[in-house]
Amino acid sequence: MRIEFQPNNFSDVECDLLAHPVFEDEVREGTSLRALDHATKGVASSVLTSGEFKPELHHTCLIHRPARVKAHRLLLVGAGKEREFTLARLRELAATAVRVARSARCKSVAFCLRGSFKTPDAVRVAAEGALYGNYESEIYKTRDIETQEVQQLILVSERKTRQGAVNEEIRRGTIIGNAVNFARTLGNEPANILTPARLAERALAEGTRSGLEVQVLERDEMERLGMNALLAVSRGSEQPPKLILLRLPGMKPQKKAPFFALVGKGVTFDSGGISIKPAEKMEDMKADMSGGAAVIAAMSALAELGLQCPVMGLIPAVENLPSGSATKPGDVVRSLLGKTIEIINTDAEGRLILADALAYARTLGANRLIDIATLTGACVVALGHINAGMMGTDPETLERLKSARSITGERFWQLPIDEEYRKAIRSEIADIKNVGNRWGGAITAAKFLQEFVEDTPWVHLDIAGVDLDHDGQPFAAKGATGFGVRSLIQLFI
Ligand code: BES
Ligand code: ZN
Ligand code: ZN
Repeated sequence: MRIEFQPNNFSDVECDLLAHPVFEDEVREGTSLRALDHATKGVASSVLTSGEFKPELHHTCLIHRPARVKAHRLLLVGAGKEREFTLARLRELAATAVRVARSARCKSVAFCLRGSFKTPDAVRVAAEGALYGNYESEIYKTRDIETQEVQQLILVSERKTRQGAVNEEIRRGTIIGNAVNFARTLGNEPANILTPARLAERALAEGTRSGLEVQVLERDEMERLGMNALLAVSRGSEQPPKLILLRLPGMKPQKKAPFFALVGKGVTFDSGGISIKPAEKMEDMKADMSGGAAVIAAMSALAELGLQCPVMGLIPAVENLPSGSATKPGDVVRSLLGKTIEIINTDAEGRLILADALAYARTLGANRLIDIATLTGACVVALGHINAGMMGTDPETLERLKSARSITGERFWQLPIDEEYRKAIRSEIADIKNVGNRWGGAITAAKFLQEFVEDTPWVHLDIAGVDLDHDGQPFAAKGATGFGVRSLIQLFI
C-alpha cells in the first residue's frame, strides 16, 4: 500500500473512497457537520439526524456519489465520543475505513485525520491502522480470490505541517504496521508449516532484512549449557528445539546502564504433551508462539527504525508433543540456573522454556527482563480477551507499559505477586514444581518465572487471552492479533 499525505480540503481529494470520522457529540451539536453537509448537499445530516446512522465507534455509513466531493464515495466512520478520542482510536478508525474499502473493492482510500493530535503523530498511527486493516488471514485459500487489497492511502488534513516530518512518520508507521502484520502471519501459520526450525528461518530472514544480528542455538549447544528445562519440553517431538537470539548491531550490555532482554515464548504447537489437552480448540495452540513472534517483530522494527536501543531478543522455540521419549509427569530436571524442577504437568511447558531463556539472558548481560507469553488459561479466565495480564518487579517498566495504552491501544492489567503465592509451587522432592493448585494460576506461573529472574528487575506479560481474535473486529481480520508488538516498540521510541 502506497501511503501519502495531502494537506487539502477533504472534498478536493480524488479517490475511490473518502473516509471521514464523525463524533457522536457533533451530531447532537450539529456544528462541525456543516462541511460534511455542504459536501453532500445535506445527505450527511439527513442520515445522522434521522437516527439511521449513529456514529458509535466503528459503525459506518457509505454514501455514493456525494454531490460536492471529488471522491466517488464518502464513508462516515463513527468515532465515538470526542473527549474519549485517542491516537489508539484513530489507528482503529483508519483500519475500519480500509476494511470497508476492501469489501467495497475500492483501491484508493483517503482518510481524514481528526482530533487535536500533532499531525505527524496522527499520520503515524493512521498508517499503522491502515496496514492493520488491509491484512487478511486467508493465507491458504486456493480458490482464486480476487485481490481486495487497498493500494493507495491518502491521509488528509487541512492543517499545515512540515512535509519532512510527515514523511518520516509515514515511514515509521509503515515499519510498525508491517511488523505487527508480520507477527500476525506467524501466529496464523499452522504448526506443520511453522516448526521451531522454520520459525528460526523466518526470524533469520526477517531479522537480516531489517538489520538485526541473528544467531540460533542448536540442541547440542543447549545440552552443553544445561538448558534441561527447555529441552524437557521438546523431548517428545521429532522437531529439534531452537533458541533464537536477536541483537541490534553495536548494542552490547554495559555493567551499569540498563540493558533489556525481550524473551518471547515460542511453542510452535502445544498439545500439552503427556498431560494432553482436550481436543476442543486445541488447534488454537498453533499460536502458542505469539509471544516469540511479538519479540521477533518488535526487534526487527527497532532495527529498521534505525534506533540504538539497549535491548536484545530471545525466543526459545519448541514443539510440545507426547511420545515415547516425552517428559512424564513427575520427572525432575536441573535448569540452566541450577535449580531443580519437578514437572508435575507437561502442559505447563511455557514456564519451563522461559525459565532457561530468562536465566540465559542474564548470563548474556541483560539486567532488565521482559517476557511475553501465551502462558496460562487462568489469565484468560481472570481478564477475558480484552486485557493482557502483567506482573513483575520493575515498577518503571510496568508503569510505562500501562501508560502507553492511549497510544498503543494495547491493554495490560497488573496482577499481584505477593510472596505467599509461592507456597503453591513448593515441591516435595525438588526446588520447585511447575504447577500450583487450582487458584490464581496466572500468578503462580509468574511466581515460577520469578525463581529464575531472581533479583533482576522483570516484567511478565501473559497474553494468553489476547493473541487470537475469533470474532473479528470492524478493524481487523479474524485470527492472530500481533498483540504486544506495539507496546514493546513503544518502550524504546
Ligand atoms: N499455552 C497454554 C496456555 C493457553 C491457554 C494459551 C489458553 C492460550 C489460550 C499453556 O501452555 C498451558 O497449557 N497452561 C496450562 C497450565 C496449567 C497446566 C497449570 C493452563 O493454563 O491450563
Ligand atoms: Zn501448555
Ligand atoms: Zn503453552
